[in-house]
Formats: sequence, structure tokens, C-alpha cells
Amino acid sequence: MDNPSPSWQRIYADEEFSWLWPPAYEPGSTPPELESILSLLQPQNGARFLDLACGLGWLTIPMALRGFHVTGYDLSDAMLTRAQESAAHAKAEIQWVRGDMRSLPADWTATFDFVTLTLSEFGCFHDESDNQCVLAEAARVLKQGGRFLLDIVVNRDELVFRGDRTECFDAGGYFISDRGSLDLLSGIYTRVFQWYRQGQRRQTTWQIRAYTAPEVTRMLQRAGFRSSTPYRNYAGDRLTRDSASLVFLAQK
Ligand SMILES: C[S@@+](CC[C@H](N)C(=O)[O-])C[C@H]1O[C@@H](n2cnc3c(N)ncnc32)[C@H](O)[C@@H]1O
Repeated sequence: MDNPSPSWQRIYADEEFSWLWPPAYEPGSTPPELESILSLLQPQNGARFLDLACGLGWLTIPMALRGFHVTGYDLSDAMLTRAQESAAHAKAEIQWVRGDMRSLPADWTATFDFVTLTLSEFGCFHDESDNQCVLAEAARVLKQGGRFLLDIVVNRDELVFRGDRTECFDAGGYFISDRGSLDLLSGIYTRVFQWYRQGQRRQTTWQIRAYTAPEVTRMLQRAGFRSSTPYRNYAGDRLTRDSASLVFLAQK
């Protein structure tokens, strides 16, 4: 089993990169994407959800507040601690488990009605077999007929279509330059972030293997899913070459 790229181990355990973290659950709010996700998944009352790489609980907590049985699973202690605090504040009952999404607990086989992997940096492992393993584990823990929502933050076709680019954004008082480039031979997409803070230049690198929709479809098949549909977003809009992310709904 390959290690995640170094950026992965650092980013989610280090406050310095908290501007890169996924959105936290806002107390008393409903994420605008929730209704779209629910209408895409059509879950029965009381369905069992596993939110893989759940981060700060952006989806985990609202799902539990809707009455579903939810397990939040993440590798990072820092993320889980913050998610647990938000859940306690919201009075949401959730089972939190720390672990690596490449090897889920052995006794979870055929346990869940739904597995979600949202805002996911699917492709973060340099070794292709590790990325495949994430899908195989999602399939293993689903009941027969269960469904998997996989939302990938890059779409290789869109990266090729758009070309390399540099952007700047405000991270709350200082500007970060974000330079993204795709290596066509390896398929690795690299983003280099640079900023100045307290007079010092900082830099971090984020890397991911970028997949096309047909590649992910084949990987899902290999993992044991009998069907899957790619979309542009949670609303179920048709995928086009300018879709920045890939949203898959797959059925075991
Ligand atoms: C971009 S965040 C997505 C969070 C969440 N799904 C959301 O939609 O807000 C990626 C998360 O993946 C977690 N992660 C990274 N590598 C992991 C691994 N090997 N196994 C489980 N979680 C992992 C990180 O700790 C981080 O919380």
C-alpha cells in the first residue's frame, strides 16, 4: 500500500493549511447541496450511510439530523475532532471512526445502504492499485443493491480542455497564488500554492491522479459495481467537457 502524496498527510493535519480544508458544518444550517443529494439518492427512512473521508462533517452531520444512521470515517484526528465538536453542538448522533479508506473494518461487509465520498480527492494515491482499492472497499461494505455517491474534484477532460492556469485568491487577509498543471504522460495534476505570511514565502504542493469519466466507470465495474452513471453535479446535470468535477452514482 502506497502512502498518500505528502501533501495529503500534511494538509489535513496542519492548521497552516486550514484554508484548504473542506467546508465545516455551519450550526443550524442546511448545506444547499443536501436536497440535490437526497433527490439523487432517494434514501428510505432510517437508511444506513457511511460518509467516507468525512472531513469536518459538512454532509455527515446534516444527514444524521435528517434521521439517517450515519457513520463518519476519516484518517485525520484533527478533522474528526472538529467534526465531533460540531456534531455535539448540533445534537447529531453519529458513529465516528478513524481509519484509512483503503482498508475499512473487516466486519463492515454488506452493512450500508449508501456510501458517500464527497468533495473527494479520489486519485490522491500515487499507486493506481490504492485508488482502485478505495472503490473495492466501498463496494464491499455496501449491501447488495446499495449505492455509492462518488464526487471527484477534478475531471481530466476538463483539465486538458482548459489547459494549465494560474489564479489568485484571498485566504482571509493574504493572497495565495494557485498554479495548476497536468502532466499528460503520468496523468498527475499538480497544484502549487504560494503565499507570503509574516514576511516569509510559504509553499505547498497538492497532487492528484486525474481520471476521465470512462476510466472511473471501468474502475467502478472492476470494483464490483454493476452500474454507474456520471453527472456534472449533484443535481444530476449531464456531464460536459467543461465540468470541473465528476459526480458518479454507482449501484452494487
Ligand atoms: C477534501 S476533504 C473532503 C471532506 C468531506 N468529504 C466533505 O465533503 O467535506 C478530504 C478528506 O479526506 C481525508 N482523507 C485523506 N486521506 C484519507 C484516507 N486515506 N482515508 C480516509 N480519509 C482520508 C482527509 O483527512 C480529509 O478530511
